[in-house]
Amino acid sequence: MDLFDTVYQRQSIGKVKPDPVPQHIIEQLLSAAVQAPNHHRVRPWRFIVLSGAARQRLGDVMAESKRLSAPETPDAVLDVERSRPLRSPVIIAIGVDKPSEPKVLEVENICAAAAAAENLLLAATDLGLGAMWRTGPAALDPRVKEFLGLAPDQHLIGFIYMGYPEGEHIRQDRPGFADRTTWLD
Ligand SMILES: Cc1cc2nc3c(=O)[nH]c(=O)nc-3n(C[C@H](O)[C@H](O)[C@H](O)COP(=O)(O)O)c2cc1C
Repeated sequence: MDLFDTVYQRQSIGKVKPDPVPQHIIEQLLSAAVQAPNHHRVRPWRFIVLSGAARQRLGDVMAESKRLSAPETPDAVLDVERSRPLRSPVIIAIGVDKPSEPKVLEVENICAAAAAAENLLLAATDLGLGAMWRTGPAALDPRVKEFLGLAPDQHLIGFIYMGYPEGEHIRQDRPGFADRTTWLD
């Protein structure tokens, strides 16, 4: 697919089939992700690929964390929380390294990881996958970070849910750039 076609075709697709995504396809996506620019070549991104029972374990951590922070939460609500990661056969969580040298800024590392995430979304679109970047309270949760092997002060910029699209997805037109652009000459 032409690059511009892929960019214009990308959209968040949350409804995907449970069919597994082959390992070599996931590796293709990760390889595309790491082509992103990153200041000082620190490669600040961390990818945690969750499939199968790992999604259940993530859901258990999310539900338990909700219960601990709000003990009055009804079981039905906890069950919804627990089942969230089962919405797609694969989830790629993206963490960001904290800068370890003064010349590297935290915001730059976050930007680099976000660029990697967008590469991943575009590559997924190109390969016919449906993908959706999700965050929510889980992305800020220290227990979730610990489960994923991230430190509490590491940013978890999102979970890329993905799988083969279920049903038709009509892409909505996006607002243009004119009202967000200043031209200086
Ligand atoms: C950093 C980030 C976090 C997001 N978190 C969520 C989320 O938690 N839940 C959700 O439904 N969509 C989430 N999205 C997806 C956006 O809602 C979506 O990109 C937006 O509605 C535009 O739609 P499009 O992706 O089809 O262009 C997130 C997107 C970004 C970039």
